Amino acid sequence: MKDGYLAAGDVADAVDGYLAAAPATRAWDVETAFDWQAADAGKLTEGQRSAVQFVTLIEDHLPGYFDIYHRNFPVDGTVDPAIFVHNRELYHFTVRWAAEEDTHARALARYQEASGLAGRDALREELAVEGRKPFDLPYDHPVQFFAYALVQEKATQIYYQHLREVAGDPVLREVLLRLSRDEARHFSFMADVVTRYLRVYGDAVAGPIRDVIAAFRMPLADTMRGYWRWALKIADVARYDHTDSYEHLIKIVDRAVDTRTEPVDELISFIRRSRTLPG
Ligand SMILES: [Fe+2]
Ligand SMILES: [Fe+2]
Repeated sequence: MKDGYLAAGDVADAVDGYLAAAPATRAWDVETAFDWQAADAGKLTEGQRSAVQFVTLIEDHLPGYFDIYHRNFPVDGTVDPAIFVHNRELYHFTVRWAAEEDTHARALARYQEASGLAGRDALREELAVEGRKPFDLPYDHPVQFFAYALVQEKATQIYYQHLREVAGDPVLREVLLRLSRDEARHFSFMADVVTRYLRVYGDAVAGPIRDVIAAFRMPLADTMRGYWRWALKIADVARYDHTDSYEHLIKIVDRAVDTRTEPVDELISFIRRSRTLPG
């Protein structure tokens, strides 16, 4: 095992768990899972339509997110064999995860088209504006990529659940159900990996995780035109707030360590203080 990294066997175990939670029998696809003919954006409020458009942009940025893994966990001769075996195991996750996220992007785009929210060509052009912008996570410790994704996946799952509860179009509700279930599995994988880091490295990863929380921004928050105004505008419909997932992160940290040390206590109280209080 290379310093700072999980052992390849630990990554492999986490990947096994992720793949076991998603058997082929429960897979779904854009083509057959939904009654697209029945999709109708006329059944949505202005806020709900806006919430769908917002998250389509976020999901459509998948190539940028996927690239983060290639750059930081390369599967080629630029890394030594000890890192390579780690990265190769991780790749079993990222490639499947990316296929699922790309399906999310297609499902939301298809919904927009089928429901009359947007024309296909116009939407493609619109998505390209944000899609071309770079996305980066400037981390130096491997655990940070997983801690970031843990928070982001859970926040996205919660967002889809909220939006689903209020969405006026049953077809959209079906789409959001599929998406939120996938995000829940993505979160579980990240939670598993972060737990393993805490068990192996303990206090040594408390600081790096704290740094992730201290600088946390949801994907595209720093590059999307009008992001904060948009997020605020749709907040009545469905909050897109990463701090909604902090209680889950606290639980994971707490469960991972047998005895609470000062750095771990500090980390937990820091996460607690970073939450946005509702209302
Ligand atoms: Fe997604
Ligand atoms: Fe996801």
